[in-house]
Amino acid sequence: MKNAARGQIYFGDNLDILRQIPSESVGLIYIDPPFNTGKIQKRTQIAAIEAAHDGYRGFQGKRYQRIPIGTRGYIDFFDDYLEFLEPRLIEARRILAPNGTMYFHIDYREAHYCKILLDGIFGRESFINEIIWAYDYGGRPKNRWPPKHDNIFIYVKNPKNYVFNYDDIERIPYMAPGLVGPEKAAKGKLPTDTWWHTIVPTNSREKTGYPTQKPLGILRRIIQASSRPDDIVLDFFAGSGTTGMAAYELGRRFMLIDNNPEALEIMAKRFAELKDVEWINFEPKPYHPVGRTRDIFDNLSLQHNK
Ligand SMILES: C[S@@+](CC[C@H](N)C(=O)[O-])C[C@H]1O[C@@H](n2cnc3c(N)ncnc32)[C@H](O)[C@@H]1O
Repeated sequence: MKNAARGQIYFGDNLDILRQIPSESVGLIYIDPPFNTGKIQKRTQIAAIEAAHDGYRGFQGKRYQRIPIGTRGYIDFFDDYLEFLEPRLIEARRILAPNGTMYFHIDYREAHYCKILLDGIFGRESFINEIIWAYDYGGRPKNRWPPKHDNIFIYVKNPKNYVFNYDDIERIPYMAPGLVGPEKAAKGKLPTDTWWHTIVPTNSREKTGYPTQKPLGILRRIIQASSRPDDIVLDFFAGSGTTGMAAYELGRRFMLIDNNPEALEIMAKRFAELKDVEWINFEPKPYHPVGRTRDIFDNLSLQHNK
């Protein structure tokens, strides 16, 4: 990455791009690969448009109609999921800095297979934690415990020397502040390996409309704890670019990769105001940087709408 660029966004298959990244050059990797659910991940955005007669009654007593304004999606299916992940994880380990960390975000159906794969690539001694991200949203089946968490595995390159900024982690309130005394209660406690955090709320400013978008709050906590200012933070399953946005806000550099034109469109809108972001349309060898900022977004939109 050029020193000047705060962020780079690559459009292309992540394996080709990872193979071009120099060894030991990245301080932190966060990835949230498709979960192999076998579904097409889709999200339809609905706009509320003021209507003359019909429709429901809403803000200031006016009438509104709900109009679908588009569906975004990507295919969450691979013939052999672990075979797909393995070469990418091998590259991830190679490019991690000697004191670097990788966070691997997955759902409960795939987590166990992935843990064994990751142990094989990083070594069991390099496994530091499993974060349980617990939320409370969506349907509740009546025939089993409603699944309401994701798993995030943490691996480091060197278990004897890795970045963990204990003092920079934002503290959270104690569950029973009365039990710990006023001084401790005021300071709050360090989060444990179980993180209660809402999903991205439907009507929040944060919401981009990309399916499976993760909350900025989760990424901020990861980046604060496991990277240093100016480190490069890499997400090679970038989606809506949450990792890049959190990294930028915290003064880190970022590198994002996605092969879905819709993800690139969302990121172009999300990052429109950010300075020093470079867009790279990756052709597997030779590699051609094709310009900066929104020119590339415009080209992508045109190609995609044909
Ligand atoms: C679960 S989503 C990531 C969502 C992201 N964490 C966010 O907050 O928006 C997974 C992403 O991986 C991308 N992807 C899947 N296979 C890929 C590949 N071979 N190369 C690059 N991106 C890929 C998909 O297009 C999708 O955007």
